[in-house]
Amino acid sequence: MASHDTSFDPSDDPSPAELLAGRPNLKQHAMDGLVLDGVPLNRIADAVGTPTWVYSAGTLRSRYRALAKALKEAGLDAQPHYAVKANDHLAILATLAKEGAGADVVSEGELRRALKAGIPADHIVYSGVGKSARELRLAVTENISQINVESAEELAMLSAIASGMGRTARVALRVNPDVEAGGHEKISTGRATDKFGIAFDHAAELYAHAATLPGIEPIGVATHIGSQILDLAPYRAAYARIADLVRTIRNAGYRVETVDCGGGLGIPYRNEPAPSPTGLAGTIKAAFHNLDVRIALEPGRWLVGPAGLLLASVVLAKQTPSTRFVVLDAAMNDLVRPAMYDAWHGILPVSATDAVAPLSPCDVVGPVCESGDTFARSRALPPLSPGARVAILDAGAYGSVMSSPYNARPRAAEVMVDGDTWTVIRERQTHEDLWAGEVVPIP
Ligand code: LLP
Repeated sequence: MASHDTSFDPSDDPSPAELLAGRPNLKQHAMDGLVLDGVPLNRIADAVGTPTWVYSAGTLRSRYRALAKALKEAGLDAQPHYAVKANDHLAILATLAKEGAGADVVSEGELRRALKAGIPADHIVYSGVGKSARELRLAVTENISQINVESAEELAMLSAIASGMGRTARVALRVNPDVEAGGHEKISTGRATDKFGIAFDHAAELYAHAATLPGIEPIGVATHIGSQILDLAPYRAAYARIADLVRTIRNAGYRVETVDCGGGLGIPYRNEPAPSPTGLAGTIKAAFHNLDVRIALEPGRWLVGPAGLLLASVVLAKQTPSTRFVVLDAAMNDLVRPAMYDAWHGILPVSATDAVAPLSPCDVVGPVCESGDTFARSRALPPLSPGARVAILDAGAYGSVMSSPYNARPRAAEVMVDGDTWTVIRERQTHEDLWAGEVVPIP
């Protein structure tokens, strides 16, 4: 699918003006340069340096509200559970929690973060193909709203744990609907050969079995077919199968209260056509409206992706016989998506002068010792001399959470903008932080 396609034609790239037009939280100001909501990015970079992640609280809120409104207007009884993996910072979680978001978590750490940020346990669902006994015990202890079980083996394990604790776990079976969701190979999850979920043909039988197990109350079914999905057709196909399954299970005499429709809604990294929450809500309604089920959703990227950017500075501009390279102080250890998924991210100059300079193609790279450390190829950008700043767009999801200290590069700072104020929400890591906890066992 487009944003994961390795064969982008740079002549199809959106221009800086088109990128700005598609991102209402960003403006080019004639004096202040690039401004996020009410805050010039230069002001943040002057104060905290670069690379720095910058998030817009206003964008987070408006996106959550747009999603909630679309679900409501479709007449659905639906609760969004933000997929914490997309960005697990407490400030992001707390902002969404205030709007009414629940959480979809996949580890003890994410569950603890969600609770810490004030998301109530009865708004938390737990997904994931390999929950440990310790993690299941914590989920049962906290009495979270739903555990999405992905196999018969996990169901047996949860039954033993919950009944041993004298508790009952509310369970949805995550079903693999065997549909091809497009998107990048590495993030497609709903095909029969993927590791995720229970085979469609075994699901009704396992549901009946679950109803007989101590410590288990089956309450519904769940599915999640992939990420960065730019077309509603795979959702339509998956939800039609899930609706059939709900009917089959009910015909066998079991209760199904809830359907978890997963996440995956894509965003227009390249300004490409992308489905809206209204489109998704309509698709959900078409499949489930006459089944009288509560709907859960697990959106991650759609909520936070466009709310964040990575602010970086040019370290040097290097010309080889074939190519103009712009080397940044941000790298693949900060934002791995281009290296890992061939993902395309918009890049805009920050200074007002650079914004009006003539464009020419360049490769935008990081300083890490791998050719894969490339943010963009043949990208039309102004001259950008050392010290110039750029914003790498739509980096709020799967950005900071996937960063690493590779090449002994400290973790970047994080900032949240709210209207015309801003706050450092994570200090830049120090070099001492890098080796904190390391032991050298040499006398
Ligand atoms: N629910 C489950 C069970 C998931 O596995 C995921 C994502 C989501 C919800 C949220 O999906 P979203 O709405 O964000 O698409 N690192 C990759 C994306 C990995 C997605 C993994 N699962 C990337 O940077 O593109």
